[in-house]
Amino acid sequence: VVSNRLPISLKRSGTFWHSKATAGGLATAMNPILRGSDGIWIGWSGDTSETTDKNRDAILKVWAEKHRYFAVDLDQETANGFYEGLANQALWPLFHHFPSLLRFDPEHWQAYVRANEKFRDEILKHLRPNDLVWIHDYHFLLLPQMLRELVPEIAIGFFLHVPFPSSSVFRTLPKREKLLRGMLGADYVGFHTHRYLQHFRTSILRLLGLTSQMDHLEAGNRIVRLDALPIGIAPHQFTDLLTKGAGTRKQLSELKQRFGYCKILLSVDRLDYTKGIPERLRAYRRFLQEYPNWRGKVVLIQVAVPSRERVPQYTRLRREVDELIEEINGEWRTPHWSPITYLRRNLPQAELAALYANADVALVTPLPDGLNLVAKEYVACKSAGDGVLVLSEFAGAAAEMGEALLVNPYDEECLSATIARALSLDETEKRERMMALYRRVHKNNVFAWGDRFITNLTTAAQTRSKQLHNEPRPLEKKQLVNAFTQAQSRLIMLDYDGTLTPFASLPQSAAPSKTLIDLLERLAQDEHSTVALISGRSRIDLERWFGDIPRLWIAAE
Ligand code: F6P
Repeated sequence: VVSNRLPISLKRSGTFWHSKATAGGLATAMNPILRGSDGIWIGWSGDTSETTDKNRDAILKVWAEKHRYFAVDLDQETANGFYEGLANQALWPLFHHFPSLLRFDPEHWQAYVRANEKFRDEILKHLRPNDLVWIHDYHFLLLPQMLRELVPEIAIGFFLHVPFPSSSVFRTLPKREKLLRGMLGADYVGFHTHRYLQHFRTSILRLLGLTSQMDHLEAGNRIVRLDALPIGIAPHQFTDLLTKGAGTRKQLSELKQRFGYCKILLSVDRLDYTKGIPERLRAYRRFLQEYPNWRGKVVLIQVAVPSRERVPQYTRLRREVDELIEEINGEWRTPHWSPITYLRRNLPQAELAALYANADVALVTPLPDGLNLVAKEYVACKSAGDGVLVLSEFAGAAAEMGEALLVNPYDEECLSATIARALSLDETEKRERMMALYRRVHKNNVFAWGDRFITNLTTAAQTRSKQLHNEPRPLEKKQLVNAFTQAQSRLIMLDYDGTLTPFASLPQSAAPSKTLIDLLERLAQDEHSTVALISGRSRIDLERWFGDIPRLWIAAE
């Protein structure tokens, strides 16, 4: 496993070094997977001091021997340009659809290349034949190809934990082709959602001129497999704490005592501008204005974990959040009640579990988010179904958590109304929604995700050159007609452009002919057939053209 952060990083207090657990979803997700295999994990030490020191060396030795974590050291200039520079001031904002925050500095790019090379060299030190290399995230977009060039036969998987932006945004990035080619060095490239995968395919087409199928493309003499597989969590880590963790149980009863008189809304985020914290706070303020009955009867607990504090946007955000909370509390606070309890620090999992279990509503409202594990962690702690998840439709998790109350986090009015709705949701509906989510979060856990990735990567590497030009053959017309007439119940799924109508250089001129409309009408009328038209075209187009055909299903956009 290769990622920027290891589950622990080096910290210095004076002349003394120690290990510190790192915050963040990836460590939580990968640790249980590695523990069950004899894999190794390569990541940044977290330190840029470039010193040699006995105490420091001893710590790194324990990491390697006990945990099988191998640390890569980066000098100050490389670390700054790579992590704070290119990764977090160019790729992070752009991949999260904030192109106006993009800052591309050629020196940062050089540092990014150097860091990717350094990681490649570290991998080469450990690599054995038949190893699988699993590279994570936007810090290492170049690494798959760098490795492929030196070890062509090695199995390389790449998983992107952040969104892949729409191609019109991605194309604004200098060096965009290099980054795409870097990713295509892998045998298997995974995204959290189909939407990100589609965005990637469009960029590959527009910028590299490579056509692709839903699940693969040909890059030179290799096949690269593509997939959408959302990460899960290790739910038992939370359920165990709730049933057996003495600390968590103590926290739980303290929380009950302190907040027993009111309902709890809970938000847990890294302090990042993508998380929509100010937008959420403003919506909460509006809620308190519009629903005065709830004043004094509800509290918002906002946990915000400081992050990337050397990047200017993050310092500004911290100030903005502090001020907003001050304002809201100042406006509504009484001697017995404060609308917001703000915890600006990293909370241990034991405390988080207690908060999740106690919260009536979780507000997970990022503006965009690759996936968002908090949504899943909250659900994992709700075995009795006694909670409501309010989830941004722009979090990757929304694609598989449709029973949550989905919201547009930019719509203050709607978010305020959804908070009110969540707080007074009927008990049966609440339980039904939460239990469906609970079952899915437990089933699609991180172990299933890891197994699926490893299995698919293994197959992808074994078949990387086997199936080139091996497209499925079209069905014989006679066979098709026979199958159609014999079937008692048919499902006919039709693409539009290039299938029902020839491609046109101007999409608007590819309107359906009268003959086609008549044909679809006749097909859809047949009570033994279900006909669905599935197209990437807009809903408006499809409805205008086909909306009047009875019994025709349409899936647009
Ligand atoms: O969301 C992408 C991601 O890399 C997560 O995997 C991780 O939790 C988070 O960003 C942490 O970022 P950083 O390592 O910069 O603190």
